[in-house]
Amino acid sequence: MASVMTQNILFISITFCCLSSVLAIKCWDCRSDADPKCADPFDNSTVPITDCRTLGNLDHLPGVRPTMCRKIRQKVNGEWRYFRSCAYMGEPGIQGDERFCLMRTGTYNIFMEYCTCNSKDGCNSAGSLKGNILLGVFATCLWSVVHFAIY
Ligand SMILES: *[C@@H]1O[C@H](CO)[C@@H](O)[C@H](O)[C@H]1NC(C)=O
Repeated sequence: MASVMTQNILFISITFCCLSSVLAIKCWDCRSDADPKCADPFDNSTVPITDCRTLGNLDHLPGVRPTMCRKIRQKVNGEWRYFRSCAYMGEPGIQGDERFCLMRTGTYNIFMEYCTCNSKDGCNSAGSLKGNILLGVFATCLWSVVHFAIY
């Protein structure tokens, strides 16, 4: 049983890797502390759009390619920060619905909203329509990954 399972997982991973290497998406790439136009409402006039295929792999996620865009909205000590970029991790939207974002309230007066999408080039320009609160292990994992990716 275990080996069939392992084979399946391997097969799915390999298929996913091959598929994702041909998938191409472009995402807005900015952070609001460097460019205020990165904030909401988003102004794309000076923000670069990045072809995610041109990005390298991350050291801590070997073999994982960026196939989605993401937008992160963070409130730290009362100040909003926005980050937009290509995304390596997770699924687009919440259960496939890109209107929904992952929200998390952390310690140290931090609130974070994490949105992913792959529906079209530059899809990380939009504000989220609605939030969804997910707590627990998944959110905690994502939080540490995101934290690691930004800083
Ligand atoms: C930038 O924003 C304008 C206005 O919303 C839009 O018409 C245009 O298509 C956007 N540019 C790109 C490259 O998406």
